[in-house]
Amino acid sequence: MKKRLVIGNWKMYIESPEAAKKFAQALKRKAHAHPSVEVWLAPSFTLIPALAGALGRTKLKIGGQGLSVREGAHTGEVSARMLKGAGASFCIVGHSERRAMGESNEAVRIQLVRAAQEGLVPVLCVGELERDSQGAHFSFVEEQIASALRAGPVPKLVVAYEPIWAIGALQAMVPADIEEMIIFIRKTLAQFLGRETADKTRILYGGSVEGENAAAILDGSGASGLLVGRASADIDSFLKILIACKK
Ligand code: PGA
Repeated sequence: MKKRLVIGNWKMYIESPEAAKKFAQALKRKAHAHPSVEVWLAPSFTLIPALAGALGRTKLKIGGQGLSVREGAHTGEVSARMLKGAGASFCIVGHSERRAMGESNEAVRIQLVRAAQEGLVPVLCVGELERDSQGAHFSFVEEQIASALRAGPVPKLVVAYEPIWAIGALQAMVPADIEEMIIFIRKTLAQFLGRETADKTRILYGGSVEGENAAAILDGSGASGLLVGRASADIDSFLKILIACKK
């Protein structure tokens, strides 16, 4: 069985190289306490080199929170190649906060392709804004996956299911409902990747994960791991989540 995967999405919470390095040192000191968990961190672009330096030869991976769909003369953009060169080995793609700023399904698809071209593992975020009794959330998520994979399979894909209403909220989603959506996502992935690859694809849950609810979410949902925002930017909260991930 694969190790559980926990990805910390720092968003803009951690701002300085000093704070990032301090976090990395503390995480490294405790690394032996969570050998059965894979840990990836997604800091803001500016912190990737400092974090890469501080983590050194550990198994912890660093990634981006998004990447440019463009190449060449585009002010303010960061490409997959630049991420790779700075020390990233994965990239979050299609996070709902970026989609809310105008990233379309098509832009998400291009990012997946660009990430894959540079050998970055793409972490594709999907999730509905709201739920209704008709189950429109299923077709919404299905369309996000279908348009992302329309042009063909992406190697090493990781999928993160993050219902938007549960992000930065008071409570996470109920584990039984997460389980239902994970089964649905796996079925949808099978149409594009084939059953065997879909079965092996890691599907994470994200949305108000904390040390207190992490074990119940993982045990009750069958998720392969967690995508953590707020609680990943505080070392004590993050370590609590890693401890909760032990099988
Ligand atoms: P949250 O964020 O853990 O703060 O809810 C999750 C995410 O946005 O990836």
